[in-house]
Amino acid sequence: MVNAVETRGLGKVYQLDVLKGRKRVVALDGLDLTIPAGHVLGVLGPNGAGKSTTIKLLLNLIRPTSGSALIFGRPPSEAEARRDVGYLPENPAPYEYLSGAEFVTLAAQLSGLKGAECRRRVDEVLGQVQMTSFAGVQIRRYSKGMTQRIALAQALVARPRLLILDEPTSGLDVLGRQLIREIVLSEKQRGTSILLCSHIIPDVEALSEDVAILVGGKLVRAGPVSELLSQQDAEAELVFEGLSHETLDGLRARVLQTGRRVVLRCPAAAAQDVILRCLGQKATLISMQPIRLTLEDTFLEALKAQGQKVGSVIE
Ligand SMILES: Nc1ncnc2c1ncn2[C@@H]1O[C@H](COP(=O)(O)OP(=O)(O)OP(=O)(O)O)[C@@H](O)[C@H]1O
Ligand SMILES: [Mg+2]
Repeated sequence: MVNAVETRGLGKVYQLDVLKGRKRVVALDGLDLTIPAGHVLGVLGPNGAGKSTTIKLLLNLIRPTSGSALIFGRPPSEAEARRDVGYLPENPAPYEYLSGAEFVTLAAQLSGLKGAECRRRVDEVLGQVQMTSFAGVQIRRYSKGMTQRIALAQALVARPRLLILDEPTSGLDVLGRQLIREIVLSEKQRGTSILLCSHIIPDVEALSEDVAILVGGKLVRAGPVSELLSQQDAEAELVFEGLSHETLDGLRARVLQTGRRVVLRCPAAAAQDVILRCLGQKATLISMQPIRLTLEDTFLEALKAQGQKVGSVIE
């Protein structure tokens, strides 16, 4: 089956006028990314990493300065390729003098839906984002979270084969975030391919099977979430009572808490040795638990390896 998204060596250099001097911003550098049909890819990256630039290139909102991209085998410059895509921008700006229902209807009609089928589908997505009771209210009267929900409804209305979500949970409360998670999962079950950019790492971990980490316009990690997590060394957390300072000094473990109870973190492979040495010093083992490393640990480690910075290289 043809991939939903495929980029090869995709690059974008922006030109900036800084006090009459021309500067180049390398926003994206040689990106190779694949989203197989029906997969959810989570893209993580710090501010200015190139996430939104990647999305804009896939939507033909900007043109690449190198490399190429395909959506279901077609270049994004073809209108037919973009017809398959639903897009939630990072800062949605819907027409604010329209009501939510009018705006979503406009998006549906632009996508070719007509008549009763259009009305039925608009009602359905407004219900899905829980905006039915505010559907007749002008968007300028909405809160930020309500505007976000209406923008998501317009992305869903034409039943896209590829859904591109740029920071979908931005501005949403806990219930709103939960709702987005449920919608993404139900779209995934329907077989929709999804590109999800988010700063909220637990959301990416819960929803995506694949993850890509972008830093400074470069792809620094990519693969199935389960594989990225399993590449990390497992750790164990040990809690002791009656542990002396002298014993702590010679251990292959980090001390997280001291006092009557001492909490230690060590590589899982070293746990047995640490326990035996502490018990040999008459300490009492209170508990031991394996530490489940999260995508957040992988992300932070990738950032550290690259040397954290904001934005891209300016030349
Ligand atoms: N129109 C533009 N002109 C010049 N530089 C730009 C333009 N748009 C983005 N950039 C630069 O390109 C780099 C990548 O920006 P991009 O918006 O893709 O980052 P991002 O990963 O989406 O960040 P965030 O998490 O903050 O949304 C940044 O250094 C940014 O300053
Ligand atoms: Mg962005």
